[in-house]
Amino acid sequence: MPCSGRVAPAAEGSVRQPRSDYVDIWKFYDITHRHHIICNPISPEKLDGLVELLRLPSGAPVVDIASGKGEFLVRLAETYGVSGFGIDISPHFIRDARARLKARVPQSEVVFQEMDGAAFVPDAAQSLALAACIGASWVFGGHGATLDALNRFVAPCGWIVVDMRSWLQEPVEEYLKASDTTRASFATHAENAAAGEERGLELAYTLVSNKDDWDRYEGLQWYSVSEYARAHPDDPDLREIVDRVDKERSVYLRWGRATLGWAIYVFRQRISRSDRSAA
Ligand SMILES: C[S@@+](CC[C@H](N)C(=O)[O-])C[C@H]1O[C@@H](n2cnc3c(N)ncnc32)[C@H](O)[C@@H]1O
Repeated sequence: MPCSGRVAPAAEGSVRQPRSDYVDIWKFYDITHRHHIICNPISPEKLDGLVELLRLPSGAPVVDIASGKGEFLVRLAETYGVSGFGIDISPHFIRDARARLKARVPQSEVVFQEMDGAAFVPDAAQSLALAACIGASWVFGGHGATLDALNRFVAPCGWIVVDMRSWLQEPVEEYLKASDTTRASFATHAENAAAGEERGLELAYTLVSNKDDWDRYEGLQWYSVSEYARAHPDDPDLREIVDRVDKERSVYLRWGRATLGWAIYVFRQRISRSDRSAA
């Protein structure tokens, strides 16, 4: 069953949106993520493991908010023939996602749409088999608000797939200052999981990044900018882009690698006692 969506007023509030006080932010991400398949610290193999577990019915309606280059949704379309939407605000990523879908699942009923994810609402509340938002919790105003929003989208049996960063250890003040974060910006892995459970959701699975995943995610940004600088020495934005990535690399190597964790949390609604006895 194909699903559609319409535009509603954007939700208020955000945790931490990407900075936009200099070079066009979507150009920056296009350049820094040019060699990423997945724009998050997760391996393609781990993503495959998640896709396999979801066991969606053929044609199941889904939405992926902040779908990036569309890899998660394209894999769901390849594996299950899902229908629905990938929503992203970046014209560059939407272009990449459409090309990827066309090349790999040309008959797919998935549509990649360029818009603010906060404005997406499914045609019917609680109708989707899966709602995801991976790597952009600011769209809904934070982790809890993302869980609440996606919970309103999914059918009682539906999957809710979100991500969140977490502290692996107490962040030092220098790191907080250098990374423009506060201690309250993130919780622990257990607290991120508990946020779903407090909303009556069952945590069915997690994918936790390891150092390899992080090094690939961060390192590919350095590589992408290094390549871009050689190919586009005359880009007037180049100095700014290189400076920012140099700073981010230094912050990651000095503190972030040991301090910050990341995971995908896979929730679904708990089955009630009556459902359980009927099953
Ligand atoms: C860290 S990337 C994650 C992309 C994808 N989920 C993945 O894991 O590969 C964050 C994504 O959020 C998108 N984004 C940022 N703000 C958004 C918004 N307000 N609405 C929709 N997408 C947004 C960016 O364009 C980018 O593709």
